[in-house]
Amino acid sequence: MKTAMAADSKQERQRAGAGGELDPAALAALPLPPCPGVVGMIETLRRMRNDSLSFITRMSRDYGPVSRLPLGTETLIFLSDPDLIGEVLQKRAESFHKDPVTRKLEESLGRGLLTSENPVWRAHRKAIAPLFKRSHLEAWAAEMVQGSEAMVDAWQLPAAAAAGAAAAAPTQEVDVASTSLRLTLGIVFRTVFGAEVGDVSAEVGEAIDEMMEQFELELRTWRRFVPKSWLRGGRRRVAHARAALDKVVYGLIAARRLRPLEDGDDLLGRLMLARDESGAALTDEELRDEAVTMFVAGHETTAIALAFACWHLGLQPDLQRRLREELHAALGDRPPGAADLERLPLLRATIQETLRVHPPAYVVGRTALHDMELGGFRIEAGNAVLMSQWAMHHDPRYFPDPDAFFPDRWLNGLEQRLPKFAYFPFGGGPQVCVGNHFALMELQLCLASIVRRVELGAPAAAGVRTSAAVTLRPAVPMPMQLRLCAPAGKVAAGEA
Ligand code: HEM
Repeated sequence: MKTAMAADSKQERQRAGAGGELDPAALAALPLPPCPGVVGMIETLRRMRNDSLSFITRMSRDYGPVSRLPLGTETLIFLSDPDLIGEVLQKRAESFHKDPVTRKLEESLGRGLLTSENPVWRAHRKAIAPLFKRSHLEAWAAEMVQGSEAMVDAWQLPAAAAAGAAAAAPTQEVDVASTSLRLTLGIVFRTVFGAEVGDVSAEVGEAIDEMMEQFELELRTWRRFVPKSWLRGGRRRVAHARAALDKVVYGLIAARRLRPLEDGDDLLGRLMLARDESGAALTDEELRDEAVTMFVAGHETTAIALAFACWHLGLQPDLQRRLREELHAALGDRPPGAADLERLPLLRATIQETLRVHPPAYVVGRTALHDMELGGFRIEAGNAVLMSQWAMHHDPRYFPDPDAFFPDRWLNGLEQRLPKFAYFPFGGGPQVCVGNHFALMELQLCLASIVRRVELGAPAAAGVRTSAAVTLRPAVPMPMQLRLCAPAGKVAAGEA
């Protein structure tokens, strides 16, 4: 769906020629995107502080597909048109750098894929992207399933009631948010470093949590506006956490070099074998930065989605029953494998819907490298351009009844009919999430492993308070009442 403004701008670009940029005089004549006036600004800033999600949505609703928010020395531009989002993330990606918030992560993550710019980013992306190809992913599937099955075993849940029993079987309360985090942390840890290293994932997880907590405090509170040298306490904690993390990670890198690199399916070994265009291998520092990046980018995002999928299934017993029937029909009583996934459409739709309603990455940003036209407006060099998955995924133009959790909407080819950037949980263009297939496979395998064995009881409350920081995560625990469900054959027999 295109706005008149976007259509006009397309004609403008055609006039401008292949580069898609207008000449300086034509550019200077363009208006700046609309922004709140003095009264609107007070309300906008209040909303920005109290509820960043409704703030993002209201910017597009109140000011159109391209809007502007001047904030002192920074100017934020909000896009809410799929074609324009595609212009920035894909077609004109070379005209943008990463946004300042992502770049700030460099202090903790180093220069991995998430934070680096060209030429480092291009060389590393070329080396890393092939490591996520299908055959490699399949080797990690067993890790994902074993982790989930072990988690269900460790819950020690009460069994389902015997057929014809008078009373319902008891349940056990489990916080699905924290258990999902432990599960995905273990999976990404063993995928990156290999299962043989023993479990120091908790140590690594704690150091990363500490760094991320300080990062978020600096991002979201008054600390953002004071010189770094004043934040001695916070800085010390980051330095301490980083030193602890480095000790473990460099130790794992050294240990990995002692084993033949071709042995095992771990990402670290494969990264050590990778060569850039000049034939150079990654240094230990580069390996450290990429390993830590995978950890941070890859565990919380997936955990959030898994927890929300369980939550919604608890709220919709009929949907949960249909999903379990699909799993039992395809798998019988055995755990799932990568090869089963294409025969499980409702499972995939449930994950797609979870990432739509609760996109763990709820906004991506870029910085404009030069003045340019976008949607008929002038965007200036240095402007931060923000594109929100949250706003697009809840836009009723593309998703009728957008707040409803309704996986069936994906079962009739919706994805093919949507404009490309109306649904983009993993971003898009050259910097699309390098772990997107990994994450989709992990989410499906983990959810299938849980639902085939566990009855997810209704959570205590229908809604969960979320916190929109680096990711859109639950702000509170997510307790659910769980018990084992009847094995495959018994469910089918019971229903017949
Ligand atoms: C549901 C889970 C996930 C979501 C929603 C997600 C989302 C995203 C998004 C939106 C981006 C693009 C950021 C941008 O354009 O600025 C991104 C980048 C990235 N993600 Fe993910 N991600 C997920 C899981 C993973 C996993 C499992 C891994 C690794 C194992 C991973 C590794 C990365 C890396 C390294 C980047 C940077 C890519 C680059 O700039 O070349 N992500 N992710």
